[in-house]
Amino acid sequence: MSDALLEITRLCASHGESRVLWDVDLTIARGRAMALIGRNGVGKTTLLHTIMGTHRAASGTLRFDGRDVTALRPDIRARAGIGFVPQGRHVFPHLTVMENLETGLSARGTRGSGGVPAHIFDLFPKLYDIRTRPGGFLSGGEQQQLAIGRALAGEPSLLLLDEPTEGIQPNVVQQIEAALVHVRDALGMTVLVVEQYLDFVWRFADDYVAMQGGRILRQGRIADETAADVAHLVRI
Ligand SMILES: Nc1ncnc2c1ncn2[C@@H]1O[C@H](COP(=O)(O)OP(=O)(O)OP(=O)(O)O)[C@@H](O)[C@H]1O
Ligand SMILES: [Mg+2]
Repeated sequence: MSDALLEITRLCASHGESRVLWDVDLTIARGRAMALIGRNGVGKTTLLHTIMGTHRAASGTLRFDGRDVTALRPDIRARAGIGFVPQGRHVFPHLTVMENLETGLSARGTRGSGGVPAHIFDLFPKLYDIRTRPGGFLSGGEQQQLAIGRALAGEPSLLLLDEPTEGIQPNVVQQIEAALVHVRDALGMTVLVVEQYLDFVWRFADDYVAMQGGRILRQGRIADETAADVAHLVRI
């Protein structure tokens, strides 16, 4: 088993005629948390969608867990173990919290069985309290916890999160941080989190990768550099 869970090689992607990702090479090691940072519009969300398969790569390859997934549909990638918490959360407004969580179970494929894993309610107790409430009646912070819980219900080995702290109050940000630390340290999950709030990722992530103009500008270990230095270097 190689140390690399995800290996991205010379990945390019476009929106219509305009190229958005240029020759992205990136390796994410198993069991680590990586922060993907960069200014608005540099291509962070597009990169996550291209990893998930909800956006098609124009060229390049993606290997996940030793398997070339470049041509695979998103549902197949999900069953292979890629979980996604999209920017803007996208909970189902007419389904209850519990039903929203249950939609995440199908991503397990043959890797798991049973209902919604209990550890999701240990990480986010509020979700248990509001389990019968429709998703459309949740606050922003509750929706974010639900979106993370739904992805965790699929028991992914790689968890992708797109700006999980955007518009979220500090006590929920702390719970999200604790949840990400738990899934990495206790469950061995690998995490790739897009974040503009560097202080948040600098508290717990292991590595960072900074993008600019659709390319990787710089990467390194979080322990080796301060958030302020990196923010200055990549002009965030
Ligand atoms: N559906 C789309 N159609 C056309 N252009 C798009 C589409 N989605 C994104 N883009 C463009 O692609 C570029 C990268 O967008 P992307 O959403 O990946 O950036 P981002 O780094 O996630 O930005 P933000 O920090 O604002 O979320 C931007 O120039 C954006 O305008
Ligand atoms: Mg984005």
